Amino acid sequence: MSRERRIPTGIAGLDRVIEGGVRDNTTLLVVGSSGTGKSTFAMQYLNYGLEHGENGLYISMEEPPEQIMREAKMLGFNLDKYYEKELFFFHSKGKDFVKLVDEQLPALVEMNKNFSVKTRVVIDPLTPLTWAIQDKQEQREVITKLFYTLKQLGPVLITTEEHAAPGETIGEDVLIPIYMSDGAVHLTYRPIGGAFNRALEIIKMRATRHGEEVYPYIFVRGIGVVVRTTPLLSAEDMRKYDDLFNKAIRTAADLGANETVLERLAYVKENWSYPFSPKETLQIFFESQGLTDALTKDEIARRKEESKPSDIQLDLKELSVKAPIESVVAEPEEEGLIEIENLRDLEEMIQ
Ligand SMILES: Nc1ncnc2c1ncn2[C@@H]1O[C@H](COP(=O)(O)OP(=O)(O)OP(=O)(O)O)[C@@H](O)[C@H]1O
Ligand SMILES: [Mg+2]
Repeated sequence: MSRERRIPTGIAGLDRVIEGGVRDNTTLLVVGSSGTGKSTFAMQYLNYGLEHGENGLYISMEEPPEQIMREAKMLGFNLDKYYEKELFFFHSKGKDFVKLVDEQLPALVEMNKNFSVKTRVVIDPLTPLTWAIQDKQEQREVITKLFYTLKQLGPVLITTEEHAAPGETIGEDVLIPIYMSDGAVHLTYRPIGGAFNRALEIIKMRATRHGEEVYPYIFVRGIGVVVRTTPLLSAEDMRKYDDLFNKAIRTAADLGANETVLERLAYVKENWSYPFSPKETLQIFFESQGLTDALTKDEIARRKEESKPSDIQLDLKELSVKAPIESVVAEPEEEGLIEIENLRDLEEMIQ
């Protein structure tokens, strides 16, 4: 799990499934078809920053500031009071997006370098820019430059409209922005009524342990969007498979696994974040590393010879003297052990 400082998005419920928020100087893309709530997300995100002493920059390629603030008011956000003090708009009227990205925004970022206040940036929506540039290569270059420039100000939230063809989960026109972003969430609306008609999924979130479910969300006037998530596993829950991992590490060492593999297993142990047992994953991993009960005594001896001495191995040696070998390998009633059938053989081999 990363220990990097997180910036809350202010989107109720989202932060608890992305380790507390976004990372500074990264881009988060909100993808959704018309009316799914993208602008509500954007305003809520901006409003949170403004209410917590940050500045805000709203880049709009369609609507003028007055209209955006009017819409915000209808959602319960009073952006007027920050207007041109902490909140700035960049209304790209001319549709000359290349000039915007090549000259105007870099100049703005340069000017902003003298301010120490963090600026939260919103682009709502990016769609006119992607539509204006037909050539995919050029589109990729312009978006790369746009994101690179804006990330220097602070965390950036971009919305983009998708038009998925029937049967597609994500439309082709949003693939480049998703690819270029550090994080992406997908909003869907199925007009079927009931609690699940609007749902959010996290497509990706770089360097973040994130929730993987489909989360319903609702609109609440005065709050904006409330995403109905349940928090990820607590630190305590994350430790519940430690015994199992410790046994797996000892088994691996006894099968002659080298230091790198043992370190990797220790790393997996520290980062296991699923609510289910790692048993199957470990069995598959052991097999991929050639760590099976089919190993001969000579092969194990050769592997042990090859692997460099380490603290881990010293500990393990001590352990195998003190503990009978049965406690190191399979205990059938206990979940998740690496199963090695012939215990006697293995015991002899190792001794
Ligand atoms: N308080 C509310 N109660 C119920 N529905 C709401 C509420 N607030 C917003 N909505 C719904 O959300 C829709 C629009 O939200 P929003 O403008 O954020 O979406 P969008 O994805 O930005 O849409 P567009 O594609 O038009 O830009 C509204 O049309 C409405 O259906
Ligand atoms: Mg909108």
